[in-house]
Amino acid sequence: MFRSKTCGELRLTDAGTVVTLAGWVQRVRKMGGMVFVDLRDRYGITQLVFDDATDAALCEQASRLGREFVIQITGKVSERSSKNSKIPTGDIEILVNTLNVINAADTPPFTIEDDTDGGDDLRMKYRYLDLRRQCVRKNLELRHKMVMEIRKFLDDLHFMEVETPILINSTPEGARDFVVPSRMNPGQFYALPQSPQILKQLLMVSGFDRYFQIAKCFRDEDLRADRQPEFTQIDCEMSFVEQEDILQIFEAMAKHLFKSILGIEMKDPFQRMTWQDAMKYYGSDKPDLRFDMHFVELMDVLKGYGFGVFDGAAYIGGICAKGAATYTRKQIDALTEYVKRPQIGAKGMVYARVEADGSVKSSVDKFYSQEVLQQLKAAMNAEAGDLILILSGDDAMKTRKQLSELRLKVADELGLRDKNQFKCLWVPMYEWSDEENRLMAMHHPFTSPKPEDIPLLDTDPASVRANAYDMVINGIEVGGGSIRIHDSKLQATIFKILGFTPEQAQAKFGFLMNAFKFGAPPHGGLAFGLDRFVSIFAKLDSIRDCIAFPKNNSGRDVMLDAPGPLDQSQLDELQLKVDLKA
Ligand code: AMO
Repeated sequence: MFRSKTCGELRLTDAGTVVTLAGWVQRVRKMGGMVFVDLRDRYGITQLVFDDATDAALCEQASRLGREFVIQITGKVSERSSKNSKIPTGDIEILVNTLNVINAADTPPFTIEDDTDGGDDLRMKYRYLDLRRQCVRKNLELRHKMVMEIRKFLDDLHFMEVETPILINSTPEGARDFVVPSRMNPGQFYALPQSPQILKQLLMVSGFDRYFQIAKCFRDEDLRADRQPEFTQIDCEMSFVEQEDILQIFEAMAKHLFKSILGIEMKDPFQRMTWQDAMKYYGSDKPDLRFDMHFVELMDVLKGYGFGVFDGAAYIGGICAKGAATYTRKQIDALTEYVKRPQIGAKGMVYARVEADGSVKSSVDKFYSQEVLQQLKAAMNAEAGDLILILSGDDAMKTRKQLSELRLKVADELGLRDKNQFKCLWVPMYEWSDEENRLMAMHHPFTSPKPEDIPLLDTDPASVRANAYDMVINGIEVGGGSIRIHDSKLQATIFKILGFTPEQAQAKFGFLMNAFKFGAPPHGGLAFGLDRFVSIFAKLDSIRDCIAFPKNNSGRDVMLDAPGPLDQSQLDELQLKVDLKA
């Protein structure tokens, strides 16, 4: 037997027993004639004691142990004289009588402690050491628990987990593909799935009825805190369902996770907000509703008083930051600079403070009488002590997005984005977007229009609504899906509207339209981003921290040093020539 106990399980009730433990040396402390070693494994830390008076040679050997040595010890569990209430094993220690150094270790490049001295890059390079830190490992433990609960929940509802292939061809989810050359088919490439979308729909045609998969997806897109090139979806699809059936089941799944993982009971149904309202009131299709601060349109209130910026604007909107009239000039200037950064692109910001006596002082006082400013106060529902912040612009959608950034920034500053609070929301998405000339709300070309709108496809496609929905938690899109098209003719029409020629549609998706001719049931589904879901539960700022081996912002795995060049022999085998453009 290699070990009889783990480093996390011994308690006072075990005092007197002889145990064998194995693990990593966290720390060695010498005090008087004694050596204390903190021994660590996945389960916790146990204090080992080596006493010079009992065995001088053993004590000397222990004093030479280094950080991260792997050792095995046998000893007697004993009550500690000075207890450590910070760790579960803090009431006991082990009086060691045998020590076996299994493997010595070089000094690690950073300390293996929650509060480490290692920077991001170094920790990513030595990710296997970073993963020894309890705070990192606990995120992966949480991820594991969530996946187990998801599997259990879906299995109970007769969802069947089916693996779909990774070497496929392009799936239209809007990102670039990662491609893999085929040696056996020279000059031809597989594409890695951006999602198992088409395959899960084919499984519905096969009669699987309820499918799920914890599926790896690959998207070559610009990376952000909530995006990785390789990520995991909880991918689901169901037959013979309407939108409401899907929302009910997956709302129940989210609630089950909140209850089973975080102990939070969410009794109320998730709020639902149309895409239009989300854009109108929050300037975002994924509004963070842990706080309100909704937009108020101020065109009627502020236009026409000779202030050129507003008079020429297509949109003027304001937010009311409760209790923020204490903001100093410096803080307000910093906010102005923030929204003027190129990433946000606002031209400037106007502010109005509601003073203790109810009067309003604004940065554009010379254009507005107190009477108009009082109308502004009323429109904003502002009270003494509040700060009104206003943006305007000649493109309403762009200005709303800028105001959305400002809203989030101010909420951050006011501490309104509490990670311990969770606000879940469904955003039914629909409508053609003229702006981007594509079916904005449709996640992909397989989303079904609402049945009553199908006749409008020929006459007025812009007014066609789609059967699609996103789930948003705390301002993060955690999932999205839709009711699909199951009719090959309708699918062909949609491809046409989306700009595919019949030949292109046939070449890319002919197999799907064909499949629909052989008895396709009505179906729909959704996919959650597992990494995002876990990072919200773990209260992380980036999904990287709940992925065992993530990529950095340039899409590199710095530990494996991937991607890398191919050997000439491999290139020859694949009949590929690299011709880098400078
Ligand atoms: P969608 O493209 O909206 O839908 O993706 C579903 C969910 O996957 C997560 N996600 C990501 N997570 C991390 N890194 C990324 N690069 C990334 N991209 C997406 C998000 C998102 O909500 N096939 C459809 C689903 C369906 O219609 O059933 C799809 O993939 O949380």
